[in-house]
Amino acid sequence: MKDLAQEVNRRRTFAIISHPDAGKTTITEQLLLFSGAIREAGTVKAKGKKSNKFAKSDWMEIEQQRGISVTSSVMQVDYDGYQVNILDTPGHEDFSEDTYRTLMAVDAAVMVVDSGKGIEPQTKRLFEVVSHRGIPVFTFMNKLDRDGLEPLDLVAELEEVLGIDAYPMNWPMGMGRELLGLYDLYNQRVELRGKTSEDPETYIDLDESGDVPGDYDFKQSSVYTQAMEDAQLLHEAGNDFDLERIQQGKLTPVFFGSALTGFGVQTFFDAFVDLAPAPSTVELEDGRMLEPTAEEFSGFVFKIQANMNPAHRDRIAFIRISSGEFEKGMNVSLERTGKTMRLAHTTQFMADAREEVETAIAGDIIGLYDTGNLQIGDSIYEGREAIKFKPLPQFTPELFMKVTPKNVMKQKSFHKGIEQLVQEGAIQLYKTYHTEEYILGAVGQLQFEVFQHRLLHEYKAEVEMIPMGNKIARWVDPEAMEPNMSSSRNLLVKDIEGQPVFLFENSFAENWFKDKHPDVELYQLL
Ligand code: G4P
Repeated sequence: MKDLAQEVNRRRTFAIISHPDAGKTTITEQLLLFSGAIREAGTVKAKGKKSNKFAKSDWMEIEQQRGISVTSSVMQVDYDGYQVNILDTPGHEDFSEDTYRTLMAVDAAVMVVDSGKGIEPQTKRLFEVVSHRGIPVFTFMNKLDRDGLEPLDLVAELEEVLGIDAYPMNWPMGMGRELLGLYDLYNQRVELRGKTSEDPETYIDLDESGDVPGDYDFKQSSVYTQAMEDAQLLHEAGNDFDLERIQQGKLTPVFFGSALTGFGVQTFFDAFVDLAPAPSTVELEDGRMLEPTAEEFSGFVFKIQANMNPAHRDRIAFIRISSGEFEKGMNVSLERTGKTMRLAHTTQFMADAREEVETAIAGDIIGLYDTGNLQIGDSIYEGREAIKFKPLPQFTPELFMKVTPKNVMKQKSFHKGIEQLVQEGAIQLYKTYHTEEYILGAVGQLQFEVFQHRLLHEYKAEVEMIPMGNKIARWVDPEAMEPNMSSSRNLLVKDIEGQPVFLFENSFAENWFKDKHPDVELYQLL
């Protein structure tokens, strides 16, 4: 075996957080291109999104698209000597709690922002989840080949809306058709954009004064002098480069570029693999610290992808390896039950094929074929000493549905199914206060559809679902709560543990409530 510490140190496990259409797929594809995993741009897209509507529809017919949706969940590529693991965080209609949970399995996040739009809602929400973990966030301001918002405004908005300090690593020299290149203070060079796709970027080192030595036409351009002035001003007046703050998620390095034309992308990834952390020590439930280089294997389940085909009951449990080395066929213990299991059928994820995995180490993700033994949040470990990771957080649901069994005779399987699916983390369950009606909560529409499908196929229970739409769920201290606080605009329900929760119609209703009951504190999950 290779030196474990050395192998762990070259792991970079991250997710891309962005609003749909900001360019996540395009930039992922560029990374695959640079790493040699694919040869042609367009491959990722042709496979999924564009040709046959990525995600939901595919996922529902998992048998045919297994290769697509599962491989695109995790991709492992070699980049510049680093083993890079990219975890997908689906947007659009397949957004779900799994998207958030995936962020619990990464060591860093890349935030792709459309420079024409600035910080959009989904980016903000995903950022909040990542930020809670205190992991580093690397920002890529995309679509520089188009006219967008002023770079200074983009950076100011980022700091203001997300509440994080920013450090521009490079600065655009123009935008859209005027885009000349990047004034790159981090690398102390100017990166000139090639004129055609065959014409690569040109790099010219800066001199001590921060100018380009020699005679070049572009030096006369106002776009160049402006970028140089802006960047220098920012560095005098703005935040200092501070690797520790970057790694704590308090300072985000900001890069500019265009994923579509590939401009600035390599510069971005080069800095990313340099600055992003390798897998590090984690605190366990009992307070012990676990080193990724510990000899014995351990990991946790952060996502379970159920097979939607009723003929195949197997599921894939995604495991983030936290320590040691996985070897095919090894025996591990499942912390929750204390039982031993053999990890025989596993899979690792490559850019364009799924391969049976033989070995994998801390930082990597493996998929285990599972027949229902594993649950989200489960810890598995090798050796005698039990390892229990901290529980995964629960997320505040945003969408709600009333649910009832269609056939009263099937009440029993309905209840059993709901109970198990809720326990599995597929969906959240609430009940109205007095009438005990069932209300399902989710962060994405797909969760409801999967729930309905699985209830029917796995539990033979057909259900009626009535959408209640978006609501703001806020927990309240039972002591402070009085039943008359509830109204048509803030429905009172209880969660699975019996804790009271208000479902507010909108933020207007929430604010109205806060004004009326200033002493009542409202809480939310992550
Ligand atoms: P997503 O995964 O974040 O949802 O975004 P994706 O990469 O699919 O990109 C969304 C659209 O934005 C795509 O256009 C893509 O080509 C475009 N795009 C991505 N990066 C850049 C960039 O750097 N510059 C420009 N100009 N466009 C970029 P599309 O699928 O063809 O949609 P449409 O724009 O034709 O509607």
